[in-house]
Amino acid sequence: KDRTVFYSKEIRRLLQEKNAVLLAHYYQEDVIQDVADFVGDSLELARKAAQTQADIIVFAGVYFMAETAKILNPNKRVLLPDLAAGCSLADGCLPEDFKAFKARYPNHKVVTYINTSAEIKALSDYVCTSSNAERVIRSIPEDQPIIFAPDKNLGAYLNQVTGRDMVLWDGSCIVHEAFSLEKLIDLVAKNPEAKIVAHPESEAAVLQIANFIGSTSQMRHYIKTSPSKTFIVATEAGILHQLNQEVEGKQLIPAPARENNSCACSECAFMKLNTLEKVYLCLRDETPEVQVEATLAEQAIQPIAFMLQNT
Ligand code: 13P
Ligand code: SF4
Repeated sequence: KDRTVFYSKEIRRLLQEKNAVLLAHYYQEDVIQDVADFVGDSLELARKAAQTQADIIVFAGVYFMAETAKILNPNKRVLLPDLAAGCSLADGCLPEDFKAFKARYPNHKVVTYINTSAEIKALSDYVCTSSNAERVIRSIPEDQPIIFAPDKNLGAYLNQVTGRDMVLWDGSCIVHEAFSLEKLIDLVAKNPEAKIVAHPESEAAVLQIANFIGSTSQMRHYIKTSPSKTFIVATEAGILHQLNQEVEGKQLIPAPARENNSCACSECAFMKLNTLEKVYLCLRDETPEVQVEATLAEQAIQPIAFMLQNT
């Protein structure tokens, strides 16, 4: 407890002293969310990173998020508390494999989820996040064939809602594919009034029984504004921290994960590599820093900038 107070105070002091900003994703641990300047979903964080006047961005999230912030801010320092904070989607889509995949579909436009490396973004026509993916797909003429990568669950969901037949890369999120449908059905039987709220990275069977599907911030908005009192929340458990404080009188039940999952609820082990201590140390020592080679950054910024301007 004392260490938490110490780190939090020091982080706030150093942020001011260094004209730095601390951006945190909703999947970060509670104490990091509490000390951050801004907490958001992938799209909101990319927007904040694009707009900030700070000299240093401390990104409490995973590598591809900090890398996107660096691409948008080549002249600022972007720090990531733990450089090993990866993502199963980004790490499962390697440039050489993706180039070969793309070559099989020469007439297709490439839409990629923001959960990719700079190299994959540089090979993309469009970039999207879970909150604007449907809008991005609908903005592309219907007769234009599309490759969607790397999340096959989000891709299948988008195919279903838009009626398209996009070719999907075979990737998935280890957190959102870990929900147990059987346990979820049991939970619904015990809480028949509960609304199921799911992130579109979840598997089709979970999405099929969901009452609402949306990005982290869209799920938060639904839960806050819905007249229902009980919600089963199928996404990373970190989203419950602020929500529980904001929706007094409502019950939020984390969707259960399969037996072999490391946590009874669903936590992203990559996101949780960042700790309050690591946030403090990286801000104090201004390392580890994320770097993106200039030519690569110039190519990767095109679809990111287009997304930020048009959605
Ligand atoms: P959003 O923040 O867009 O909801 O994405 C969730 C996610 O898995 C981030 O890695
Ligand atoms: Fe990647 Fe899934 Fe973790 Fe998000 S929750 S960072 S998509 S592994």
